[in-house]
Amino acid sequence: MKKITIAIDGFSSCGKSTMAKDLAREIGYVYVDTGAMYRAVTLYCIEHGLITDEGVDIEALREKMDDVKISFQFNAEKGRPDTYLNGTLVEDRIRTMEVSGKVSHVAVIDFVRKAMVSQQQEMGQGGGVVMDGRDIGTTVFPNAELKIFVTASAEVRAQRRYDELTAKGEACNMEEILANVKERDYIDSHREVSPLRQADDALVLDNSHMTIPEQKAWLMEKYQERCQ
Ligand code: DC
Repeated sequence: MKKITIAIDGFSSCGKSTMAKDLAREIGYVYVDTGAMYRAVTLYCIEHGLITDEGVDIEALREKMDDVKISFQFNAEKGRPDTYLNGTLVEDRIRTMEVSGKVSHVAVIDFVRKAMVSQQQEMGQGGGVVMDGRDIGTTVFPNAELKIFVTASAEVRAQRRYDELTAKGEACNMEEILANVKERDYIDSHREVSPLRQADDALVLDNSHMTIPEQKAWLMEKYQERCQ
């Protein structure tokens, strides 16, 4: 059977990556979490002193951008790929509130997006990939055979992020998380380069009141319909 390209876009913390990675595992496709790539660049900025409360040191980052290499390695125990930054495992360090609070400011930078998009296009060359992000169906793979746009209310998404961080033992505050979710929605959808928007040919899924198994079944059905 021909391997297609599946683009899953949507707001932050709406369960895109859970759906995407489960589908990829079930149908034997490669899963690429593009948010992890922008998070890894953000971690690089933090660790190299390129980001302060005043913002990102754009010129210093531009000079270093060629040295930022992001890769994934499948973790069989977790059933999903782990993110590596210049060969070092950074999967946990890119999921902190600090990175979440700064990543939108890095993801708006045009040369960062250009570098990430070209790495993503290379990873998805030839199909057989489930890629999630904000601009996959619009910019990275505008010809993807199956495009999904996922959404849920900001409150539901903040609660999910809160549960995720609490489960990991990270101290967090619901109000702060909700503010972060709303701020990222705004920045992601209003930036100049590749803003978050629904592709005209995307199928919309509002999963505010759906369980994970329900979403999974919905996505599998859409995949099977598209392959027929
Ligand atoms: O999906 P996530 O929350 O891990 O994404 C982290 C940030 O990266 C998010 O604020 C938006 C940005 N992002 C992006 O601009 N383009 C993508 N393709 C994926 C993520």
